[in-house]
Amino acid sequence: MERSMENEELSKAFVQSFAMKGGDGPHSYAQNSSIQRLAIEAAKNLLHCAISNHFDPNAISSSSSTSPISIVDLGCSTGPNTFIAIQYIIEAIQTQYQSHNLPTPEFQVFFNDQVSNDFNTLFQKLPPNRNYFASGVPGSFHGRLFPRQSLHLIHSSSSLSWVSKLPKEIIRDGSCGAWNKGRIHYAGAPREVVDVYEEHYKKSLEAFLHARAEEIVRNGIMALQIPASQDHVIDDGNDEKLYPGRDLELLGSCLVDMAKLGLVSEEKVDSFNIPMFFPQLKELKKLLLSNEDFSIEQMELLDGKFLSVGNVEMYVSHHRAALEALIEKHFGEGVADELFSRYAKKVLEFPEIMDMQNLKIVLLFVLLKPKLHA
Ligand SMILES: C[S@@+](CC[C@H](N)C(=O)[O-])C[C@H]1O[C@@H](n2cnc3c(N)ncnc32)[C@H](O)[C@@H]1O
Repeated sequence: MERSMENEELSKAFVQSFAMKGGDGPHSYAQNSSIQRLAIEAAKNLLHCAISNHFDPNAISSSSSTSPISIVDLGCSTGPNTFIAIQYIIEAIQTQYQSHNLPTPEFQVFFNDQVSNDFNTLFQKLPPNRNYFASGVPGSFHGRLFPRQSLHLIHSSSSLSWVSKLPKEIIRDGSCGAWNKGRIHYAGAPREVVDVYEEHYKKSLEAFLHARAEEIVRNGIMALQIPASQDHVIDDGNDEKLYPGRDLELLGSCLVDMAKLGLVSEEKVDSFNIPMFFPQLKELKKLLLSNEDFSIEQMELLDGKFLSVGNVEMYVSHHRAALEALIEKHFGEGVADELFSRYAKKVLEFPEIMDMQNLKIVLLFVLLKPKLHA
């Protein structure tokens, strides 16, 4: 009872949303998400093996009366990456049915993201020759989105580092010392701030898993790719130049510079925090393993060599596509050009930051199955 009330609070907090930059223009997510696409490609073989080892067509058809196979991509954004992931999933399921000498089923694919996501762009870009029925599902994946026991395969990639709205202590001077003044992220912040982020991440992930446990069919599977930080680098790390979130810290320093010049208000900088957290790998594994709703069938790190972009312009565009909507919502329209041109100059002085391996970010592929409670 207590847990469901807490989950309800978390999903209410999602009135504010942080979708990626929509459309198909030069700053859009659709044009600036090649790193996330490479992550999906890097997981292709793992996804294929996961489906052939754990997606049993006979068990699926006996455990569910609905005929289409229901698949969801949570945090799909505007495409095209989500279409690539769905294509890999459907191909693997089809192979599985063929190997069991069963007729190919119909597929119903749900594309989920925040209500502010640009679903029009997503729908316009749906592959014309797709072999599935497509629907958009707006809303936060930290709460319930689907009827009970209605999903056969749940997928999410590069999305679970976003936490639900951060608690108030981080934007106010209070007794707990967690006010994140002069910064926009926990990177480089005092331990109290990191703790608030970490605590909130745990609650968000738990709420996510609990909601999915209600929605998945008994023999369904869930494949997640979750960004994390290599162990032992989440701390204040002041003696190191490179650590997870260092890129966001640098972006924050541009906003602080702009506040000094009166281009944005200092109060706005102090009350802005990017709701993104990279748990230590060890902690993430612990959270997943201790979860009461799912058992872990497979957990593997993706090869991280792809996690870098070629040049400063591309690097800055990737950040802009992910953060512009959130930033403009807080600071008002028109700050992005100035902010990201300042950011480009700082990145040029610090090019090591462009390689996520330098930032010690890793991607964990994890395959989960619902625990069958008596
Ligand atoms: C980095 S993008 C990844 C998009 C896509 N999965 C890909 O690999 O290209 C993260 C996506 O997660 C979405 N997202 C973040 N928090 C969410 C939430 N609580 N509920 C639904 N979507 C969310 C964002 O709006 C964004 O579209």
